[in-house]
Amino acid sequence: MPETGERELPWWRNAAIYQIYPRSFADGDGDGVGDLAGLRARLPYLAELGVDAIWINPWYASPQADAGYDVADYRAIDPLFGTLADAEELIRQAHGLGIRVVIDIVPNHTSDQNPWFQAALAAGPGSPERARFWFRPGRGTDGEDPPTEWQGFFGGPTWTRVTEPDGRPGEWYLHLFAPEQPDFNWEHDDVRAEFESVLRFWFDRGADGFRIDSAALLVKDADLPVSDPEEHAFTDREEVHEVYRAWRRVAESYGGGLVLIGEVWLPDAARMARYLRPDEMHTVFNFPYLECAWEAERLRGVIDDTLRFHREAGAPATWVLSNHDVDRVVSRYGREDTSFAIYARQHGRPVDLARGTRRARAAALLTQALPGAVYVYQGEELGLWEVEDIPDELRQDPMWERKGRNPADPGRDGCRVPLPWSGSEPPFGFSPSGGSGVPWLPQPEAWKEYTVEAQAADAGSMLALYRQALRLRRELGDGGFQWLEGTPQGVLAFRRGEGFACVVNLSAEAVALPLTGTVLLASDELHGQSVLPADTAVWLRV
Ligand code: NOJ
Repeated sequence: MPETGERELPWWRNAAIYQIYPRSFADGDGDGVGDLAGLRARLPYLAELGVDAIWINPWYASPQADAGYDVADYRAIDPLFGTLADAEELIRQAHGLGIRVVIDIVPNHTSDQNPWFQAALAAGPGSPERARFWFRPGRGTDGEDPPTEWQGFFGGPTWTRVTEPDGRPGEWYLHLFAPEQPDFNWEHDDVRAEFESVLRFWFDRGADGFRIDSAALLVKDADLPVSDPEEHAFTDREEVHEVYRAWRRVAESYGGGLVLIGEVWLPDAARMARYLRPDEMHTVFNFPYLECAWEAERLRGVIDDTLRFHREAGAPATWVLSNHDVDRVVSRYGREDTSFAIYARQHGRPVDLARGTRRARAAALLTQALPGAVYVYQGEELGLWEVEDIPDELRQDPMWERKGRNPADPGRDGCRVPLPWSGSEPPFGFSPSGGSGVPWLPQPEAWKEYTVEAQAADAGSMLALYRQALRLRRELGDGGFQWLEGTPQGVLAFRRGEGFACVVNLSAEAVALPLTGTVLLASDELHGQSVLPADTAVWLRV
């Protein structure tokens, strides 16, 4: 692997990490679903894009009830994606190109097809097999009411009643997500030992780190408080931190350079910082930044909070504009209300794609100029938008059914549409020509203008902007950060290190650039060298 860098910063402190959603990235075998062969073939694209690492969404053996976040076997690759040998070869080839590989680990829950859960169902109430999960008797005269009234993250109740081996309705089990995703009991030694063994399994195969799914949810209060579970039942319990301290020790036993990245979706910095103690995770995703509206004051507030609490925690910040769970950024910024809430989408509202794209370009330069690590979700670099008109019968996200088929909040399929690579009609090179499959979600015809091929040939494309920005960003290293004060309303401006500045105009009017310098990169055309149009960002050598 490449060396850590001249100043010996660990690579993950300022890496650009590209998120691969494998079923939608590239299809090697022609069945309409992306796979590891397709991904391997596209690694040179990622090297050319200029990313330091990839994070791959779950690739494990899974019934795919939640697109792989229902893991039946943590040590096997789903046949949909390939084989274990394919995964090993992928890691090897990525390393050969200087790209590190972070894999997704799903510890809060498993699949109802996991052998442990099947054994628990068969073994019946009170068995040691059930103790690895959250089985409880129901309330009511015959146990017909669930143990609590908690609502799951995908909508609907968090408990499902099982049929016991004798054929009678019996206990209930907990699942914070879909019923096919039973929650593990993290008080149980078997569960802790199993996951440490799984970490070793993948570190032994060359993985450079883990993205930890639903990281704050693992440990629940056995009293099952009836009040809001998110507040009281499972976050901020010291036992969850014990788990990550143990994982950190596993990572460090491999000699350093490995990273634990938490998906800790918490609203406040103080709670998030607890996961960043020096013996826990290395970084966490910055969701407050992702959810923030395209408004200068609010963004500045989020940036300040982020930098402050990371400084206190001694951890590097991360900057995230999109992922596989949220509406694509071009659509978000093209709406009247540009903020985002994961459990309240705004589909069906007018989207001004031209404005959204302009802002997304400016946001890319803002994001990539901030100190810390940056994430790019596949297709973000192509300026793809949220596909809102997926036919109902093709929707696959369990949220769609569980939230009552709500067209305004239909789930996450719209950001998971297979990428357009080349050509002028679907599947746009996503699947090999002559393959029998059609992409698992339909691609908009208009994406013919947005293929990698089309954008690679266009110096003004989103792809060209990302390529240039990711390259220039490498030179910024770990350089300090200072706001430039006294800028006009709606303008964010800051310096990094000695000679670099970023200025972003989020206001509706053009403004005079508040400092002079050589333009390194601009998100759109400038009006002369000293005027910054609305919704435009510029990088300057000052
Ligand atoms: C968060 C993941 O990002 C999401 O895609 C998944 O559905 C849930 N965790 C449950 O695993």
